[in-house]
Amino acid sequence: MKNYKVTLIPGDGIGPEIVAEAVKVLDAAGEKFGYSLDYTKILMGGCSIDEYGEPLTDEAVNTARSGDAVLLGAVGGNVGNSRWYDVAPDLRPEAGLLKIRKELELFVNMRPAYLYDELKDACPLKNEVIGDGFDMVIMRELTGGLYFGERYTKEIDGVMTAVDTLTYNENEIRRIAVKAFEIAMKRKKTVTSVDKANVLDSSRLWRKVVKEVAADYPQVTYTDMLVDNCAMQLVMNPGQFDVILTENMFGDILSDEASMITGSIGMLSSASLGKTKLGLYEPSHGSAPDIAGKNIANPIATILSAAMMLRYSFDLDDAADAIEKAVAQVLKDGYRTSDIMSEGMTLVGTDKMGDLIKETLCKDTIMR
Ligand code: IPM
Ligand code: MG
Repeated sequence: MKNYKVTLIPGDGIGPEIVAEAVKVLDAAGEKFGYSLDYTKILMGGCSIDEYGEPLTDEAVNTARSGDAVLLGAVGGNVGNSRWYDVAPDLRPEAGLLKIRKELELFVNMRPAYLYDELKDACPLKNEVIGDGFDMVIMRELTGGLYFGERYTKEIDGVMTAVDTLTYNENEIRRIAVKAFEIAMKRKKTVTSVDKANVLDSSRLWRKVVKEVAADYPQVTYTDMLVDNCAMQLVMNPGQFDVILTENMFGDILSDEASMITGSIGMLSSASLGKTKLGLYEPSHGSAPDIAGKNIANPIATILSAAMMLRYSFDLDDAADAIEKAVAQVLKDGYRTSDIMSEGMTLVGTDKMGDLIKETLCKDTIMR
């Protein structure tokens, strides 16, 4: 039987609850599809700060590096929590996430945004805008740009001044662009590259390099779009997008917007990938400390992230398909967590949603 080593990072807030549901589903799929997973837990985020005084220890990074994939819940808490936030930026919970992405060289972040028919009611857009729905994936550069540039705050000429730097070199742009075109080849063969080339030098280089890469993929329709226009197009005509390729901060912002039009940020999975098979899989949402421990969080984004792990790190496409189908079936059967609840549906908690997906997966109707 195939066996894989999964590093689990439950993290903070709702993280432990949603990761527990994903593990439940992964193990059930393992029994059905003939694989087994060994889990090793590490601490990251606020819980690691409480234990070790830093958001991610080097030892934890080494554990993650020695496994086959990482499954993460969420990290962080209320910014009012002074124990976690009244410290230097590199000691805050979110710094753990940035560190693990950098250390594992996970330069690609894939965030699919797909509108389930059943969730049309939860979509905040009007029916005429939704049309036939949408199915896009945001390919966000993850280890460069503003989030990793030099930064400081100091007094210059008697005035407090803060500086963040936005740097991209052509190699960083090329490798994410290649990934985006490769993914587009397996989808609707359309890439929209998003930048701010009317203002930023980094965007002008971005556009030049993406154009060069596009020349190697003549079957792919490729267009450039300015980020402010893209933000508007996402709520005006989301159906036009297939693959959106963009830099780190634009991708951070646009992926939250894209997730919201799917009905709930609780539905959106993500995969962070690099050159090797070792990837990190996490829901696109945060740790939602206000609802932690109440058994009301939506575990679907994490369960779908676990399916992405099976697909991209372990090549277990059949098992991944089955999990995705089971999620769709449970939604079709009318079960909802509170974030996606609508009239006439059955409201369930976090653990019940996990159980339903697991049971549906185990039924013979969800075929290999
Ligand atoms: C995300 C999050 C992180 C990011 C934060 C928590 C650092 O917003 O994964 O989108 O900006 O990358
Ligand atoms: Mg974000």
